[in-house]
Amino acid sequence: CEAGEKSEMTSKTYLSLFPSDLATYGRDAKALLKELQSQNERMFLVTFLVLNTGRTEQELENNVFQASSIAQKHNCNLFRLDFQQEQGLMSSLPLADCQIEIQRGLTTSSTAIFIPFTTQELYQSGKESLYYGLNALSNNLIMVDRKKLKNPNGLILGTPGSGKSFSAKREIANAFLVTDDDIIINDPEGEYSPLVNRLKGQVIKISPNSTQFVNPMDINANYSEEDNPLSLKADFILSLCELVVGGKEGLLPVEKTVIDRCVHLIYRKYFANPCPENMPILEDLYNALLQQDEKEAHHVATALEIYVKGSLNLFNHRTNVNVNNRIVCYDIKELGKQMKKLGMLIVQDQVWGRVTANRSSGKSTRYYMDEMHLLLKEEQTAAYSVEIWKRFRKWGGIPTGLTQNVKDLLSSREVENIFENSDMIIMLNQAAGDRQILAKQLNISPHQLSYVTHSGEGEGLLFFGNVILPFVDRFPTDLELYRIMTTKLGEVSEGAQK
Ligand SMILES: Nc1ncnc2c1ncn2[C@@H]1O[C@H](COP(=O)(O)OP(=O)(O)OP(=O)(O)O)[C@@H](O)[C@H]1O
Ligand SMILES: [Mg+2]
Repeated sequence: CEAGEKSEMTSKTYLSLFPSDLATYGRDAKALLKELQSQNERMFLVTFLVLNTGRTEQELENNVFQASSIAQKHNCNLFRLDFQQEQGLMSSLPLADCQIEIQRGLTTSSTAIFIPFTTQELYQSGKESLYYGLNALSNNLIMVDRKKLKNPNGLILGTPGSGKSFSAKREIANAFLVTDDDIIINDPEGEYSPLVNRLKGQVIKISPNSTQFVNPMDINANYSEEDNPLSLKADFILSLCELVVGGKEGLLPVEKTVIDRCVHLIYRKYFANPCPENMPILEDLYNALLQQDEKEAHHVATALEIYVKGSLNLFNHRTNVNVNNRIVCYDIKELGKQMKKLGMLIVQDQVWGRVTANRSSGKSTRYYMDEMHLLLKEEQTAAYSVEIWKRFRKWGGIPTGLTQNVKDLLSSREVENIFENSDMIIMLNQAAGDRQILAKQLNISPHQLSYVTHSGEGEGLLFFGNVILPFVDRFPTDLELYRIMTTKLGEVSEGAQK
C-alpha cells in the first residue's frame, strides 16, 4: 500500500513538470478518443478547398479578397495555394482525386457540416423489408419491415380516391411474395377479390344469397391466453347477442347470465370430442335457451329466431370454406345495414381465432380493415378494434386500418388510442380540416404538410417510428398487377372483359 502511494506522488510531480500546452493537447486527445469510442463518431481526414474564378486578373483578385473577408468574419483564415494552384483546381473538380496534402482530422459530426445536402432515408435491408415507394426528396427506395417497429400497427389515411386501398393491396401483394405471413382482409366494398383470387387465396362472400358460410361459434384450443378458451368465446357471444337483442341499455343482467350458462352447455359435446361435426351452431344456442326456465332466456331466444329459422339465417351453418388459406378475404359488401354490423363482428372474431392459432405455430398474421370508419361507428366492433390495437402485437398480429376521415379516429378517448398506438402511418392526400388536426396531433411542419395537400394518387407522407418522409409511388399502369388492383370504373370493366 505504501509503495502505491509513493508512485502516485511521483507521477503527480512529473505531470506538473509538463508544459501546460501538452496537458491541454492531452485532454483534447482524450476527449476525441472518447467520442470515437463511445459516441459512434468516425475520424475523417478532410481537405477543404475554395475555388475562386474571375474573367480578368482584377476580377479574380476581387473575388479572392471577398472570399477571404467572408471567411475572416467567421474567424477563419483562407490560405492561398501558392505554387499548387493547378493541383488545387484538379482537386476541386468532381474527379474524386485529391492532390492537395493539407489535411485535417475531423469527427463525423464536424465533417457533416460541410455537406449541407443531407436527406433522411428509410432503408432496412432485412429479409422481410417491403417496398413503400420512392423518397420524394432523394428518389431512393423506401424499404422497411413493420415487424421491426415497437408496435407494427398501421393506418392508411386519405381522401376518397387518394390511393388508400391501392397502397394496402400493394403491401398485400408484396408481403405475400416476400414473407411467410398469413393475410386476412375485411372488405366492405368487395374490391379485393381479383387480387386475392389471382394469388389463389380464398374469398368468402358473406351475403344472404351466398352459399359460403362461416360459423360464429367456431373455436380453437388456443383461442384464449388463459386455460379456458370458452370464457372469451362466451364474451364474444354476449356481444353478438347484444347486437341482436339489446336495445339502448344492452343486455339485462339476467339475460347475460342465461346466455353464459347456455354457452357452457352447448360446447360440452365439442370439448369431449373436438371434431368439426361437433362444433355447435347458433341453433344449438337457441334450443338451449328455450330449455331454460327463465322468461328472459325465452326473450333472447325469440330475438335470435330470425337468425336461426328466419330469413337471416346465414350465420346458422357450419363453416364450409377454407378459412385457413394463406390469404383470406371476407367480402361483406352485400350484407344489408343490420346484418353488416353482425357480419363485421363475426369477421373480427374469425380473425382473432386465426391469429391465436397462428401464434402457437409462430406465424405472423396481417389483418387489413378497409373502410375502418364502419367498424368504429358501432360500439361493439369499435371496442374490438381498440382491443386489436392494444393486444395484437403480442400475438404476432399486424393490423392495418384504412379510413378517409381522421375525425372518425378521434371520436372518443378509446378510439383515439388506435391513432396514438400506430407506429406506421401512410398519409395520402388530406382534406383541409383533417390536415389541421393531423398537423397538431403528429407535429407536422407546414413544409411537410405540403406533401399531403392536393397531392396525386399514391403520394404523401410516410410515418415510420419517429421518421417522417415524403414519398411517391407511381405504379406502372400497364401491368397485370395494376389491372387487378385498380378501382377506377373504366379500368375495372376493361379488366373484366379481358
Ligand atoms: N400508387 C399508385 N400508382 C398508380 N395509380 C394509383 C396509385 N394509387 C392509386 N392509384 C389509382 O387511384 C385509384 C383509386 O385508388 P384507391 O382505390 O386506392 O382509392 P381509395 O383511397 O381507396 O378510395 P376510397 O376511399 O373511395 O376507397 C386506383 O384505382 C388507381 O387507379
Ligand atoms: Mg378504398
